[in-house]
Amino acid sequence: MAIIIKSEREINLMKEAGKVMIDLFDELQKYTKPGMSTAELDKIAARFIRSNGAIPACKGYEGFPGNICISVNDTLIHGIPSKKIILKEGDIVSYDVVILKNGYNVDACRTFPVGEISDNAKKLIETAKSCFFNAVKIIKPGVHIGDISSIIEETAENAGYTLTEDYTGHGIGKDMHEDPYVPNVGKKGSGPKLQKGMTICIEPMINEGKVDLDVMEDGWTVKTRDHKLSVHYENTVVVTETGYQIITLKEGEEI
Ligand code: MF3
Ligand code: CO
Repeated sequence: MAIIIKSEREINLMKEAGKVMIDLFDELQKYTKPGMSTAELDKIAARFIRSNGAIPACKGYEGFPGNICISVNDTLIHGIPSKKIILKEGDIVSYDVVILKNGYNVDACRTFPVGEISDNAKKLIETAKSCFFNAVKIIKPGVHIGDISSIIEETAENAGYTLTEDYTGHGIGKDMHEDPYVPNVGKKGSGPKLQKGMTICIEPMINEGKVDLDVMEDGWTVKTRDHKLSVHYENTVVVTETGYQIITLKEGEEI
């Protein structure tokens, strides 16, 4: 499949979905407290998205049962919201959300602390963000996808963390997943070149311990085999004439 370049009109529609995403994370952060179940948080997210004239696009995607993915501690990605998963003090919880509005998708993920968390959990969250921001800063037309991947890889490895090659970032637009793939591991100068009007999701997923992962019997939940912590951070990014714009990020949050 070819890479789909978006017009200014299409990018403006995606920014509308991006605004809903930004407000949703504020809403979810407020409810991220000990005692909340991930099923309750999923309901809050769905209600919020729908009340903003948008659709939680993960619902039913390849049969995914939740409205959003909610992944706690050793769950790296694709956690299914459940009444049985109750947040407790010291947990870390990631909300991975795809919002469809006016026919266009945006995709983003945040990992939040539940109350007070350990220093190593804090460092893992900060490193996932650094992976994203170190990589995004180089974006402009002509840069290779592999340039992004190699910076993510280097940032995680310098901090002593591991990165899976099994799951990647991706293009996004009318479809949740479009070309090109945006791996978190790769070589400078490899892969397609960025062009103005491309819209991509960059999503570092990092583990505190070993890289090995297992998919649970539910067919979705991806956990670290050693049950150490994992963190996911993601934004939807537009390639502009001179650089980039992050359309799922609150102003002032760039590091
Ligand atoms: N947000 C995830 C991604 O980056 C997709 C979630 S899978 C779904 O691709 F089934 F929940 F949609
Ligand atoms: Co994604």
